[in-house]
Amino acid sequence: MEQYAIKGGNPLVGEVEIGGAKNAALAILAASIMTDETVLIENMPDVRDTNVLLQAMESVGATIERLDRHTVRINGSTIHDVVFEGNYIKKIRASYYLLGALLGKYKRAEVVFPGGCNIGSRPIDQHIKGFRALGAKVDLGGMISAQADHLKGGHIYLDVVSVGATINIMMAAALAEGQTIIENAAKEPHVVDLANFLNSMGANIKGAGTDVIRIRGVEKLHKTEYSVIPDQIEAGTFMLAAAATKGDITVKNVIPKHLESITAKLMEIGCEVEESDDAVRVVSSKPLSHTQVKTLPYPGFPTDMQPQITVTLALSNGSSIVTESIFENRFKYVDELTKMGASIKVEGSTAIINGVSKYVGAHISAPDLRAGAALVIAALAADGISVVDDVFYIERGYEDFDAKLRMLGAQIEKVADEKEVKKFKLRVS
Ligand code: UD1
Repeated sequence: MEQYAIKGGNPLVGEVEIGGAKNAALAILAASIMTDETVLIENMPDVRDTNVLLQAMESVGATIERLDRHTVRINGSTIHDVVFEGNYIKKIRASYYLLGALLGKYKRAEVVFPGGCNIGSRPIDQHIKGFRALGAKVDLGGMISAQADHLKGGHIYLDVVSVGATINIMMAAALAEGQTIIENAAKEPHVVDLANFLNSMGANIKGAGTDVIRIRGVEKLHKTEYSVIPDQIEAGTFMLAAAATKGDITVKNVIPKHLESITAKLMEIGCEVEESDDAVRVVSSKPLSHTQVKTLPYPGFPTDMQPQITVTLALSNGSSIVTESIFENRFKYVDELTKMGASIKVEGSTAIINGVSKYVGAHISAPDLRAGAALVIAALAADGISVVDDVFYIERGYEDFDAKLRMLGAQIEKVADEKEVKKFKLRVS
């Protein structure tokens, strides 16, 4: 089991380069096999989730060529199967994007139920409703199986704003006959990025980024070259690391517009935020003040930034309230944070936070991807040494997290066992 050993207490200072958005990349990778021509994808993050998806695509015959760490060439003409089973694919949530992509292209797909972070019940009823509205028959046994003689455009009103369902329906509808309308669609940057990608392959999708997306089906898609947008959540995580450690970080290669809800909260609690065309600098030089945060679909405050802001607010003056409105089980990390001295009471979907002046180092465990990153921020802000277990969760979505933090002056190392933790302690003491 790999762990991070961290000596905290120093402000993080410097510049960090943000990679391609994991959640956009997953949708784009799945969609890349919807054409028989070759697709080139750049700015692909090299993280566990994208690598698992690439492995799944390869397992059904897609030709995958990595030109360098962040560039991949994909050809879907060699696909010989539309069934995805096996344990490895259960590890990622985005496996369900293969349903929309292959249902669109081959009118048939079968995928095991998706895994991903355990942050709530995560139903897929809206995906299924969408596929059925396009004329597919969907069966749920041990697998999700969808098929159709032909797909016909439909009018779908999503009961909840779902990123996954919006993306899945958009993919299948891109190759359906006639027009599909998705109402109450998700507006996240990665929904827009997928629409742009599909349009660059010859799809006809309008309205992505608004509540209503209109897709006019085309007969087939063609080759393209495309660069994935920067990762909004990786950028936000480093912005919060600056705030919590009283640091000064310039987060480079970002789209500042995608970060506005995070920027607004940071300014509200007393950080200085400077924006330029493709960078954001966060300076935390004053005591942090308290606030209220509620997670909401984009452009609201992202649920994927909820643990990071909670960790930061727990170091502010006074009482803050964080309400999680997207996933019902996303405060599991609070017990770990309490071990570090935080004072947080969780009641249902609300965390009531009484700010403390310092965390103290502790042995803690990452319960999921974003909470794991948030606990690392807590450890970097803490006095003394912390050990964070289960860092494989963090590696699902952050490329070179520890190395990027070291470039900002963090004392963090990946260790494999107690002996290595001891060596780390000797080195940093
Ligand atoms: C995606 C992101 C995840 C992020 C989330 C919300 C990927 C791979 N993952 O997850 O990082 O936290 O968006 O921004 O992009 N729901 C239903 N029925 C459905 C689908 C969803 O009730 O069929 C509910 C969910 O339980 C949740 C809400 O809708 O309460 C939003 O979920 P959704 O946007 O679908 O999240 P994911 O696509 O799974």
